[in-house]
Amino acid sequence: MRKKVTIIGAGNVGASLAQLAAQAGIWDVLLYDVVEGMPQGKALDIAEACLLWGSAASVKGTNDLKDTAGSSLIVITAGLARKPGMSRDDLLMANAKIVGGIAKELPAYSPEAILIVVTNPVDVMTQLSWKVSGLPHQKVIGMGGVLDSARLRSFIAWELGVKPSDVEAMVLGGHGDQMVPVESLMSVRGIPLKELLPAQKIQAIVQRTRGGGAEIVSLLKTGSAYYAPSASIFEMVKAIMLDEKRPLPCAVYLNGDYGWEGVYAGVPAVLGEKGVEKIIHVPMHAAELDAFNHSVNAVKELLHKLG
Ligand code: LAC
Repeated sequence: MRKKVTIIGAGNVGASLAQLAAQAGIWDVLLYDVVEGMPQGKALDIAEACLLWGSAASVKGTNDLKDTAGSSLIVITAGLARKPGMSRDDLLMANAKIVGGIAKELPAYSPEAILIVVTNPVDVMTQLSWKVSGLPHQKVIGMGGVLDSARLRSFIAWELGVKPSDVEAMVLGGHGDQMVPVESLMSVRGIPLKELLPAQKIQAIVQRTRGGGAEIVSLLKTGSAYYAPSASIFEMVKAIMLDEKRPLPCAVYLNGDYGWEGVYAGVPAVLGEKGVEKIIHVPMHAAELDAFNHSVNAVKELLHKLG
């Protein structure tokens, strides 16, 4: 029997992810939303495309959380997206209600599932999902760093005129305005970026990365990014479902890691079938560590606001 990947929230991010997961043809896909007919309609459309993609996946839509039973992996995308001028943090209260309500219910139907949380502000929503679900922290993971790093790697590649996947970089800390693109981790096939670009060019790229989500919000005017976010989630889905042991920057529970205790923030984590299988400790110099601590503090302040 094929395993089941469930996506909560059939908006742009959820539906794009459903398409990627269905195209892969490796798992069955369930799309859940509270809006009547919407997840069913999008799922049926994707299911009819599967033949053309050569995929035998079953794709279904539902408004009933009971149908999520037996999921191996559940991705939570439900909630409001930003409008121009808003920060991710402005979504805190509204999205906490939606995400908290759902994350509490899910383990009753899928006690073995791993949760990937995407709803913003993602570090806090991931911590909330872990808390209310009662799942072990290794099985509740937030998506932020893969997306921010993809943007950063793209900007570097465009500046240098090289293939983006040949550029390495990681963005750590919270997935917010204080995120930390770690300069010592930026390289092109192992060549340190500072050998290839002047410092002020790197600084400009770092700034563009911090505002990468807002740049798209201000262009779209009606919502936020979804192609790169869904592709980023899909990297994490594959790493877990195929037990790839990939070291990816994700929001994970810091349990004495990086000097923090009991808070979710972005650090490199090895993802495999058990969820977070290991946290990798990146040596950072004083300024980077300062920025990282500042960023995790911002997550803590939001947690505090949530109570
Ligand atoms: C972004 C949203 C998904 O960065 O946080 O585009």
